[in-house]
Parts: sequence; C-alpha cells; structure tokens
Amino acid sequence: MTTSTSSVVTLKINGESHTLTVDHRTTLLDALRERLDLTGTKKGCDQGQCGACTVLLDGRRAVACLQLAVAAEGRAITTIEGVAEGDRLHPVQQAFLELDGYQCGYCTPGQICSALAVLEEHAAGWPSAATADVRPEAGAPALTDEEIRERMSGNLCRCGAYTAIVRAVARAAGEQSGESGTVAA
Ligand code: FES
Ligand code: FES
Repeated sequence: MTTSTSSVVTLKINGESHTLTVDHRTTLLDALRERLDLTGTKKGCDQGQCGACTVLLDGRRAVACLQLAVAAEGRAITTIEGVAEGDRLHPVQQAFLELDGYQCGYCTPGQICSALAVLEEHAAGWPSAATADVRPEAGAPALTDEEIRERMSGNLCRCGAYTAIVRAVARAAGEQSGESGTVAA
C-alpha cells in the first residue's frame, strides 16, 4: 500500500521482478538483504566508503547503501546471486576461487560485481586515473596491475587480499579478452 512515507515498488533483480512495499528511506541494500533475503550483497560501512555493497544497476556499478530502493525501480539490478549461470561460475568468480582472491570473503561479492564492471569499462575503452594517455585515439590502455588497482580502488578488503584480487581480475580479463599476456600478476 502506498502512503505518504512508503511506496509499492517493483524491483527487477537478476532478471526476476519483486514487488514490495518500502519505506521511502529504505536503501536498496536493506531492501535486498532485509526484505528479499538476498544476503550476498554485504553491508560494511553503510555510507558509501567500502564497496562491500556493490551491485550493478543497468550494468554500471553502484553502492547499494547509497541508493534508495524506490529510485531503483525500472533499473536492471544485478547482485552476486545473479552472476553465475546455474552451477557454472562466471570467469571472474572462477578466477577469484582459483587464485584465492579473498580470505574471509566478506568483501568478495562487491569485489566481483565491481570487477565485472571494470572489465566492461575497459573493453569499452574507458580510461582511468591511472591511464597515461586518455586521448580517444590512444584506444584502450593495457589492463596492467596499476590499472586494475585504480579501477578497483573503491572496493576495500580488510583482509588485505589485494595482490590476489588483482591477479584474479587480470586472469578474468585474459579469459575474456584473450590478452592474458598483458598483465603481470
Ligand atoms: S556498505 Fe556500501 S559502501 Fe560500504
Ligand atoms: S577477504 Fe576479508 S575483507 Fe576482503
């Protein structure tokens, strides 16, 4: 029921529609975790600082703790629960698994969602703050360790698994782009 402080929203999450009534102040993160039982998305700082709650909105990464659930209506929301295809892990997940890109695993869903977007952004030729030549004609920069670190810098890992995370993202980039030789792990 819609009131002055709440609304009925339909959220499209991992291809499925979920209709629920939310208080207008409910964040997307709380809607996912507390209302829809999608607890793969983690709450770390709850103030946009750590990246633990990273999800994809229309393919772009967003921190779910700074998004209101009502504002996410009509967007395609992808959470970590929607990344694998059945029992088949996404290459990014597989790389994190095989290369130990985690310790406690709390930051991992956010790291993986972020990495998915990093690969898309890089494939689309987007520069980062670590890109030396940002002219459009320079083309996409090589996905070096420095590029990966910069592009993943919004995702903190309190276990300090950064070296393995960089390696995992590099491995996934190689599997997807066939350029595994461009990154030194
Ligand atoms: S919980 Fe959202 S950025 Fe930390
Ligand atoms: S693996 Fe523990 S916080 Fe990143």
